Amino acid sequence: MKPVVALTKGRLEKQFLQYFESLGYDIKPLQDKGRKLRVQTDQFAFIFAKGPDVSTYVQYGIADLGIVGGDILAEFQPDVYDLFPLPFGKCRMAVATEQGKVWPAQKKTIASKYTGITKEFFKNKGESVDIIKLEGSVELAPILGLADGIVDIVETGTTLKENGLVIDEEFMRFSARLIANRSSLKLKRQELAQIIEDLKQRGGQGE
Ligand code: PRP
Repeated sequence: MKPVVALTKGRLEKQFLQYFESLGYDIKPLQDKGRKLRVQTDQFAFIFAKGPDVSTYVQYGIADLGIVGGDILAEFQPDVYDLFPLPFGKCRMAVATEQGKVWPAQKKTIASKYTGITKEFFKNKGESVDIIKLEGSVELAPILGLADGIVDIVETGTTLKENGLVIDEEFMRFSARLIANRSSLKLKRQELAQIIEDLKQRGGQGE
């Protein structure tokens, strides 16, 4: 059976394909997949999923390897082998709010997809906050008055800028990472050796 590689759909997928091609792999079948969520190439079976689900498929051994953001590993702490950083998907975690916003003197309300990271961050500051979990488009929350601020990843800064938000504080840096199922690493060592070695080429440049 071909090794199974789980890819995070969207921005990381595009950046991974560029990197994979630069390493000499044929990415045509992956580019031409349309809405298919599973694609076979000569060497691998690829599956496409959202970040948290990539780590779940790898944890349960459905996928042998996964490409996932470091932010997902920090938030969900899946039981996978975190192999190494990859040289793309670089972003930082930040607290952001509306330009000119004065924080309330009392408890702040923070909206985030990353409730675990948010809780830990404010706990370490000794600050008690109310956290509201959102699934995406988090930048809407302060604009619409759902929250005083957000904790979210910032990559280019465009989403913050175009929605009138500014960074208040940055506190973590991430890049994409290669993760592996713990047993696959032992049982499929030979089948996985080449791709792991190839992906490692410039892997050290990640965060
Ligand atoms: C992420 C993140 C920000 C945006 C940051 O959202 O939550 O909204 O990207 O990127 P930028 O700094 O380059 O603008 P994503 O695109 O994954 O969509 P989502 O809001 O639906 O989670």
